[in-house]
Amino acid sequence: MSELAGLRVAVAGLGPMGRGIARVFAEAGAAVTVVDADEETTARGQAKLQEEGPPIKVDTAAGVTDAARDADLFVEAIVERFEAKLSLLDQVRAAGNAGLVVASNTSSLSIGELGKAYGDPSRVLGMHFFNPPTKMRLVEIIRGARTDAAVVGRAREWVAALGKTAVLCADSPNFIVNRVCRPLYYESQLLVTQGVAPQVVDAAIKGALGHRMGPLELLDFTGLHTHLGSSETALREFGDPRYRPIPLTRQLVRAGTTGRAAGRGYYDYSQGKPREAQ
Ligand code: NAI
Repeated sequence: MSELAGLRVAVAGLGPMGRGIARVFAEAGAAVTVVDADEETTARGQAKLQEEGPPIKVDTAAGVTDAARDADLFVEAIVERFEAKLSLLDQVRAAGNAGLVVASNTSSLSIGELGKAYGDPSRVLGMHFFNPPTKMRLVEIIRGARTDAAVVGRAREWVAALGKTAVLCADSPNFIVNRVCRPLYYESQLLVTQGVAPQVVDAAIKGALGHRMGPLELLDFTGLHTHLGSSETALREFGDPRYRPIPLTRQLVRAGTTGRAAGRGYYDYSQGKPREAQ
């Protein structure tokens, strides 16, 4: 029997991250319920989840509060915007489930602040999966100043039961991996604005550093809107200009060309294989 049999997990947000997180928990034997912004987006997310891998048992909930009421673990993987996460946490709290562990998959926001907004910071922590959650083995666990040690301990056990490796991170903007990679993203985007083709930047980095994806391919895969949200947090928190978003990224996000899922970002994906966006 799976180590996670009997664990009830609710996942909010059915973008690439929420879908992947729902899949890995369901495959490990947990009972998983998913919910997105409304019934229509939930149904669409569920359909996409079933299409992108072997069909899997994942239930849908009518709303966030319903999903939170009958869960042991609630993973929020909604859009990277603080206000959106606050209003979601209000809906989770309305379930009145005192035993619930609330995990945020945020890439950058303060876990302590999310915990305070939830009303019981002892139950809130960060569980930051990497994209795609079905393949990436690392999970950053972020302990807020008032997160209960037992809650962190349970989260570590769940990550181990998923066959993944947990690293414990301080509650600081962008945590470890995204923070260390920030200069790589920044300089790569700056090079593009200075006329170097994305392919050239990506080929150079892959060739020299042995990365599987170049930084610009990776940003397109992440979603430029998500990257922009993380950059804005880093700039706000550190006040250091080296974290400022590149204007070109902002323009691409405003135009809706947010990367691979949108069909276009630093590359054009309309013909299948990525080509230079004109
Ligand atoms: P996304 O922006 O592609 O999708 C977010 C989903 O949340 C959408 O389906 C949207 O309809 C839904 N949503 C928005 N407001 C909602 C609400 N109030 N209630 C329920 N659902 C709501 O995001 P993505 O890329 O899946 O990322 C989700 C989270 O995971 C973000 O916090 C992001 O920073 C983080 N993350 C993203 C990674 C990536 O590579 N994309 C990697 C690791 C973490």
